[in-house]
Amino acid sequence: MPAAVVAGLGSWLPPRVVTNHELTRRLDTTDEWIRSRIGVTSRHVVDPGTATSDLAVEAARRALRSAGVPAAGGVLLATTTPDRPCPATAPEVAFRLGLGAVPAFDLAAVCTGFVYGLATGAGLIASGILESLLVIGADAYSTILDPEDRTSSVIFGDGAGAVLLRAGDPEEPGALGPFDLGSDGELADLITVPGGGSRQRSSRTPPDRGDQYFKMDGRAVFGNAVARMAGSSQSALDKAGLRTSDVDRVVAHQANARILDAVAAELGMDRERFVSNIARVGNTSAASIPLALDHAVRDGELRAGHRVLLTAFGGGLTWGSTSLRWPGTGLPEEQ
Ligand code: UT7
Repeated sequence: MPAAVVAGLGSWLPPRVVTNHELTRRLDTTDEWIRSRIGVTSRHVVDPGTATSDLAVEAARRALRSAGVPAAGGVLLATTTPDRPCPATAPEVAFRLGLGAVPAFDLAAVCTGFVYGLATGAGLIASGILESLLVIGADAYSTILDPEDRTSSVIFGDGAGAVLLRAGDPEEPGALGPFDLGSDGELADLITVPGGGSRQRSSRTPPDRGDQYFKMDGRAVFGNAVARMAGSSQSALDKAGLRTSDVDRVVAHQANARILDAVAAELGMDRERFVSNIARVGNTSAASIPLALDHAVRDGELRAGHRVLLTAFGGGLTWGSTSLRWPGTGLPEEQ
């Protein structure tokens, strides 16, 4: 059975940077609180009129260029902020990339979307349905945040990251290892945009004020994020026959720097092995892991041959992990 191999990597951030200081001008918060409680100094935010597809196309172009190929056999876009509720955003991304009539679909698993996307891509490639696939994580979270909610406004940022998967050998560098995936819908209300879906629309009453915005029970989510990312990481490593000591780098969903500290402690791993770009990009939801991968390679933190553990957690609740040996060749291309 062919394995899905990472053959290209790219990312994109919208140019506008919003610093903590800028947020303190309109919200009751401080730079010190945001840095100490979350580990964020600044984040990138889309300009008016920019949509998730715009970010996704830029990241995907870079992933294709880094792989040295002009096209892919399909597009999977993990996002919580599609351009429109209907249709999916991926077909438009595929069209704008000039990929022709390839299969293209969105995947909704909030901050776990990219890892769920890799698993889906691995399955499509292993079954022979596709020879290659762009897996993109892109979110314009700023478009669903309540501008008056100081807790969520300080955490999230916008961005996109993408990998090109191609069919290859399970033993070659870049081959995705076994996956651990899970969900707990009993806790669906911990992270939600309550309005705009069929539950609210079928009531035939307009949404309550504020229900179109993202809501999160941060404290409850925090504990779940730590427990699920640590547990899922361990399961994925067990399935791959690896120990935590075999892992050179952990690329975890950049939810909160303190969550990364706690996951490292739970796994008994040095925090230095966890790559982190949260200070400059915030929590970018589905884009978080591919953006962190891209930045880690550019910063020289992640190198060819490194054994990498990927782990994510998000709304749903959902979580997932996998591992790979970093391929390194030509990844990523210059921005
Ligand atoms: O990506 C998907 C998953 N998401 C996550 O994993 C996020 C998980 N949760 C978190 O990262 C953290 O829970 C938050 C960053 C959301 C909140 O941090 P916390 O340390 O859990 O703060 P808290 O909610 O316990 O609030 C502590 C205090 C409260 O004041 P009182 O009640 O102690 O007086 C809040 O009102 O901090 C206050 N607070 C703020 N203060 C200044 C909340 N937001 C802010 C703010 N600036 N922006």
